[in-house]
Amino acid sequence: MCGIVGALAQRNVTEILLEGLRRLEYRGYDSAGVCLLDSQGALQLRKTQGKVADLESLLDSEPAAGRLGIAHTRWATHGAPSDNNSHPHVSGDFALVHNGIIENHQSLREELKGRGYQFVSETDTEVVVHLIHALAAEGRDLQAAVSAAIERLEGAYALGVISAREPDVLMCARSGSPLVIGVGIEENFIASDPMALNQVTDRFIFLEEGDVAEISAAGIAVRDKNGAEVSRPVHKLQGGHDAADKGRYRHYMQKEIFEQPTVVAATMAGRIGAETVLPEALGTRANEILPQVEQVQIVACGTSYHAGLVARYWLEDWAGIPCSVEVASEIRYRKTAVRPGTLFVTISQSGETADTLAALRQAKELGYLASMTICNVPNSSLVRESELSLMTEAGPEIGVASTKAFTTQLVALQLFCIALAKANGLPAAREAELVRALHQLPELMEAFTALDAKVRDTSEAFAEKHHALFLGRGVEYPIALEGALKLKEISYIHAEAYPAGELKHGPLALVDADMPVVVVAPNDELLEKLKSNLQEVRARGGQLFVFASPQAGFASEPGITVVEVPDAPESLQPILYTVPLQLLSYHVALLKGTDVDQPRNLAKSVTVE
Ligand code: G6P
Repeated sequence: MCGIVGALAQRNVTEILLEGLRRLEYRGYDSAGVCLLDSQGALQLRKTQGKVADLESLLDSEPAAGRLGIAHTRWATHGAPSDNNSHPHVSGDFALVHNGIIENHQSLREELKGRGYQFVSETDTEVVVHLIHALAAEGRDLQAAVSAAIERLEGAYALGVISAREPDVLMCARSGSPLVIGVGIEENFIASDPMALNQVTDRFIFLEEGDVAEISAAGIAVRDKNGAEVSRPVHKLQGGHDAADKGRYRHYMQKEIFEQPTVVAATMAGRIGAETVLPEALGTRANEILPQVEQVQIVACGTSYHAGLVARYWLEDWAGIPCSVEVASEIRYRKTAVRPGTLFVTISQSGETADTLAALRQAKELGYLASMTICNVPNSSLVRESELSLMTEAGPEIGVASTKAFTTQLVALQLFCIALAKANGLPAAREAELVRALHQLPELMEAFTALDAKVRDTSEAFAEKHHALFLGRGVEYPIALEGALKLKEISYIHAEAYPAGELKHGPLALVDADMPVVVVAPNDELLEKLKSNLQEVRARGGQLFVFASPQAGFASEPGITVVEVPDAPESLQPILYTVPLQLLSYHVALLKGTDVDQPRNLAKSVTVE
């Protein structure tokens, strides 16, 4: 969602803040701003609607420098993207940046207006800076004013606050939105994601819910939600990120699609032997819990939800364990019936998605056997708050449309499903067959990414279209859902996915020569049934684009374009068939000239409800 960076150093921090914003921009990118305390003791505010590059241009014409500063890149929630609604927000000599949503902003706004405060933005955030100003006017220093202000806030926040009155203090606080402190040598930083600070430090303090921290020349003082001084450990994060570098690729999404052979291999490394999933793959604690699992509830959002839908087929088939999959924003608001022995599994690239996190917190009260997360970000909130975690090794994913995170989630889910199936009597021969297939995955993935040129040619048929249908059956149905999601996210073409057998129950009415129909057609037991469904489309003049291996027996003819893909073991097909669909949406977006990595209205990590 939005991104926060802040710094207190012995040097000018403008470039550190800008670099932090560049690294965070993929999370929210409709406006950007910075506020620095200059050497004269005055706050210098520069902010603008648009991208970080627009803020850089503004700073070129109106430079600002200082040793203390905060910065923000925004994804609008309250109030449209505009200069005034951009952060930082200022009240007198206080400036503030905020991620999250203040739910009681309306009543606070009325109260503060009554006290003479004038509002210049439509944001929920502006109330917080005026509130801090008002509380400081009662004789509090910055630390006390921030602590008193957050007691009045309802909702979610990560805050960075500075004041011209205290040039050596950077305050921050979090509840419901992530915030870290980057620990340097005689300089310290804050950010909503460690990645923003990788150019200046590899040591981080992860603030807990309700923490307030005062960063000053004296060091870092953290208070917990009860106001007690606490000591939070400093973590050294391994390996810097090269994620900010697109290398030879034109877009991050393209780079991330082509990284898939490597990252799926990394996700399996050390977790499988020649024919078995190793006991250490999921950890000792998991090995104790898995034999007790009688049911699985998977919860996730967006692309991660689609990974969960795929896993349901594997779990029920291989482990004979019932599995439900639900989007987090729904399950958290309904009364659920939890059977004893149910494992609660979240799937998330970022580990910070607000709805998924809220669902996990709620699950802890509901009598689940245990909680487990499949996640790509170590130390994220989901990892810290789940009892078990299985990390995907995708590396940082920058493109807003998720690609390598999804396929590595599927790999991690396969390991989990095999491990659970083993605990439920999966025959060794079947395990060996599944694991042998996994060993082939990186090479097959390479072969599927090599379909790039073929898929690019196919994409031309989509560029002028307004709608598209995606069809799949069985385990390929969630892959069709994911293909349709990719197309709508980055090309803005309306795309829907259906289980092919449902076609005649409604969507067939939409089919005509203007409706491209994409079909995921691996050579599996449902192939013949799928072929009958496709006849129904052809009979209505629909244009079919079929992704199939030669063994499936399709041939291109007028109205049918077959994109031939390599043959692959059945257990790998959903993972592999995802790749040409990613490439399809990428090439259609290129033809349409949309912003591939930062599509309109979306954000990478949705840390608000
Ligand atoms: C956003 C992103 C999607 C992602 C979803 C869930 O909508 O744009 O790509 O699938 O959030 O995110 P998570 O980090 O929980 O996987």
